Amino acid sequence: MMKTKSLTHPWIIAHRGFKKNYPENTLTAFQAAMDAGVPMIELDVTLSRDRKLVVIHDATLERTTSGHGSVHDHTLEELKQLDAGSWFHSDFAEERLPELGEVLDLVDGRVITNIEIKSNAYEPHHPADAIEKQIVDLVKQKKALDAVLISSFKAEILMQVSAIAEKPALALISSDPADGQTIKLCQDLNAFSWHPDHRILTESQVEKMHAAGLKVFPYTIDTMADYLKMTAMNVDGVITNDPVSVQKWSIAVKPPSDVAAPITP
Ligand code: G3P
Ligand code: CA
Repeated sequence: MMKTKSLTHPWIIAHRGFKKNYPENTLTAFQAAMDAGVPMIELDVTLSRDRKLVVIHDATLERTTSGHGSVHDHTLEELKQLDAGSWFHSDFAEERLPELGEVLDLVDGRVITNIEIKSNAYEPHHPADAIEKQIVDLVKQKKALDAVLISSFKAEILMQVSAIAEKPALALISSDPADGQTIKLCQDLNAFSWHPDHRILTESQVEKMHAAGLKVFPYTIDTMADYLKMTAMNVDGVITNDPVSVQKWSIAVKPPSDVAAPITP
């Protein structure tokens, strides 16, 4: 079970690390998010050509690295040579694409790591070293089963993880409103949380998910107006590129005693 008792409401989840001020999905961005005091970081994982777990959002290299072409067409060794920070600012030229294990070592269970498995890594024939199995094995090896939340847009990926006996908590990400089928899927998965695009979220959707026993963490909340809209809907936390601003908004709208109220599992 995910350790949640000491966490405070609403959860602030740092999207791709502290994405606003640092190059996304890098060790520096994750360290900065932890330094800012968030209880959870979010990251994206896919497979390299030699089937290693690489932390990167896009299927291609151009936007966030000095490389070209598909991530899947490069070995880890090739990917490790790329500059993953200069696109953001020249100060970050030394940044490299992290392996998932490096991030889990950096975090060392101090905050929850929300691992999003990218849909492009799904393999319908389910090989023995499928991404879902590799991730669960790694999380177990790092003794982080209670400090990881695995999420995906792709139901099939979550179903593969769900079929493994000992696994971390699960979350479904949705860009569309939840219908009865979505809620049933979440219940069948015994999911911990639902991560909707905030633009499609309504209070009634939050109520339905809460009634189904799920927490609701919308993405991506980067303005005070959106933050207030989400908290008015009674969401349990927000996924944000700017955790420091969200912390300020959170304190501005609630007395510190309320902000510190623990969230229960
Ligand atoms: O987990 C929520 C969010 O990260 C999903 O969208 O495209 O930023 O991975 P994306
Ligand atoms: Ca993501």
